[in-house]
Amino acid sequence: MKIGIVGAGFVGSAAAYAMVMRGVGTEIVLVDRNDDLAVAQAEDIHHATPFAYPMPVNAGGYDALANSGVVVLAAGANQKPGETRLELLERNAAVFGDIIPHVLEAAPQAILLVATNPVDVMTQVSLGIARRITPDFPAGRVIGSGTVLDTARFRALLAKHLGISPKSVHAHVLGEHGDSEVLHWSGADAGAMPVSAFADEIRRPLTEAVRAEIDQGVRGAAGKIIKGKGATWYGIGGALARIVQAISDDERAVMTCSIVNPEVAGVENIALSLPRIVGVDGVIGTIHPHMDEQETAALALSAGILKEAVM
Ligand code: LAC
Repeated sequence: MKIGIVGAGFVGSAAAYAMVMRGVGTEIVLVDRNDDLAVAQAEDIHHATPFAYPMPVNAGGYDALANSGVVVLAAGANQKPGETRLELLERNAAVFGDIIPHVLEAAPQAILLVATNPVDVMTQVSLGIARRITPDFPAGRVIGSGTVLDTARFRALLAKHLGISPKSVHAHVLGEHGDSEVLHWSGADAGAMPVSAFADEIRRPLTEAVRAEIDQGVRGAAGKIIKGKGATWYGIGGALARIVQAISDDERAVMTCSIVNPEVAGVENIALSLPRIVGVDGVIGTIHPHMDEQETAALALSAGILKEAVM
């Protein structure tokens, strides 16, 4: 599958590099308003292909996106230290208003994968723009990376506490990719057991203090990294490559991506993350997980915050 990436900055190039390293897709095309940057990133990443999976990595204009199965939207400004993701909205919504019509003109069949923050609102904005061009553009073909990265952070921190591989932990972060996100503790499992029972079994209990430390570790991860190096890109780049792989391979993997939902927790027409089934046609199914009272209230709060941001 040919993969297009619009925005050859830190996130777009990290995603391209991760795809090459994982052997995702058959060709990558980078597009950026700064042509020199796109060309340089493409050449640099192409030089890594002999160490990983040989595939063409090129740069070009929007027309070079023709026949892409997925186009990653990673253009726009990123958070400044101390800035929330929602405060980025105005700047990046305008950028997408310009980009998406060109993308869909070149690749009308492409799935749009939104990376730019605030990613949930940008996913909703992107669907709105796409539907101005194609009124019945399916919501499942405008996917936000959502909390896929947060879910990975949650799993990694839980696995570290339990002393096991993150691949043996299933745990989801739901709602906004942002300060109101919801760690779905009651649904988390390790070794096919509820995570709290597993933790007790191996005498590493999930005390309130441990839970609070993991919660802060997930919720505050981006802010901490941004303070240190100005932006994040490797984590999100890996998350984007993982999502593209599920699409390209028609994996039907369950991932906490963001798409516009008709209604979540009493809030209508809002994009946020829930467990989604991801395959070659984009999001082909959504699971509404069982949550405890506190988690249900937190998801409703998260949905409400996003609704206000969109209005
Ligand atoms: C982060 C950015 C992608 O969470 O929002 O690292």
